[in-house]
Amino acid sequence: MTDRNVHPVRVSPPMRPLPTLRLLAAAVRNPIETWPEAVYREPVYRRRLAGRDSVFVCDPELIRLVLVEQAGAFVKGETMRRALEPALGTGLLTAEGEHWRWQRRTASPTFRNERILGFAPQMAAAAERTAERWRGLNGAEVDVAREMTLTTYDIIAETMLGGGGDPHRVERAITDYLDPLGWVIAMSLIRAPAWLPYPGRRRGDRARRFLRDEIGRIIARRRASDEARNDLVSLLLEARDSETGQAMGDVDLADNILTFINAGHETTALALTWTLYLLDRHPEAAQRIRAEVRGVVGDGPVLPEHVGALSFTRQVLSESMRLYPPAAIVIREAARDVTVGAIRLAAGAQVYVPIYAVHRHAMLWDDPDAFDPERFSPQAARERHRYAYLPFGAGPRICIGMSFALVEATVILAALLRAFRPRLRPGFTPEPELRVTLRPGNGMPMTLEPIG
Ligand code: HEM
Repeated sequence: MTDRNVHPVRVSPPMRPLPTLRLLAAAVRNPIETWPEAVYREPVYRRRLAGRDSVFVCDPELIRLVLVEQAGAFVKGETMRRALEPALGTGLLTAEGEHWRWQRRTASPTFRNERILGFAPQMAAAAERTAERWRGLNGAEVDVAREMTLTTYDIIAETMLGGGGDPHRVERAITDYLDPLGWVIAMSLIRAPAWLPYPGRRRGDRARRFLRDEIGRIIARRRASDEARNDLVSLLLEARDSETGQAMGDVDLADNILTFINAGHETTALALTWTLYLLDRHPEAAQRIRAEVRGVVGDGPVLPEHVGALSFTRQVLSESMRLYPPAAIVIREAARDVTVGAIRLAAGAQVYVPIYAVHRHAMLWDDPDAFDPERFSPQAARERHRYAYLPFGAGPRICIGMSFALVEATVILAALLRAFRPRLRPGFTPEPELRVTLRPGNGMPMTLEPIG
């Protein structure tokens, strides 16, 4: 780890590539600790595992080729399918080819920035419920990673399910399902057969069945009622493919609702959690956010028209997602033999875009491990290669929920920082751990001192 008094915590990479058995053990524990130091220094890094080529691509120009220009030569691949398809079916995140294209066309209008801004009042109301809970703590310590997950789950349950379903059981089931995914990913790395048992598998399977049944009931209730609601399920029920006029059937709807719940709430919660960690270390940035919020919003609720004007708040969130990108890696598999720049890939080769390492790459950033929101001033952002910073991915499969996440994170951060001074437990160092998303593996214990 870097000296915690100078820079915020970072993953310490092995100086040399790990031998296979140690690599697998590390992959189960925390796959990001298997990325050798060269990944943070070289434009491209290659490794071979279980007879398959894996290439880490960090050069922004090569990233552009893989994710944008030659996107058609790649699929998401086996690791992703094994980890996510059993729960999410073939919704937007996991589908390929024509099935993906039509879902993307159909769902895109729902996620346009103007529509998402319309959800700002529900987001502000959820932030206020969290603030109420915090006021009742009387200085007791809480895990803000869990607090942020509860807040973003509250929002996704309101905007996605219109408050339907049993939010606590659904949230529990998502955790049970996600917990053993480290095993699924490690087994897929060594190409072990998919039927092999692993710890947590049965609980994960039960959780998956529960989630499917619950969403099925919500869709059936919605179809049977003609009540108009302002939530994402209503928008998806009404959505039509702009080319064919086709609407989503029950299976596509369920796959996508589960996808949005899963892809949407934990990622944003983590962006906020790491931001609170960074702001504890940089009280001057926290003060600047408070001053901005007082100037733009005042004491009332954060409204849609405020979001765009909270520019420093947004810069801090961007810098936080640089240092701790919630989706720390994007994986692709070559669908056929293909050449990218000077790299020849055989069909089946794995291509990793290790976003966490790209965001701290020696070629791309000055003092990469330092927190500096000025990197995201409009001027600095213009001077950077577009694909040096990609917390939401890039190309045709860029995150569809990007506006949702940015509006949500801005509203929550503004509302909570205005009212509280979060302080990390003295001497505590969080441990970045990759579990599909980049979490603090040991939580984020903080006290929340009310302001004013
Ligand atoms: C800070 C929060 C978020 C981050 C960092 C994030 C990151 C990402 C990334 C990197 C991808 C690309 C994956 C790839 O190319 O393989 C992605 C895709 C996706 N995200 Fe997000 N996401 C966030 C929030 C959300 C939210 C709020 C939603 C929905 C409500 C969402 C739904 C999706 C979906 C459906 C896809 C797949 C899109 C497609 O393949 O067409 N995400 N996200």
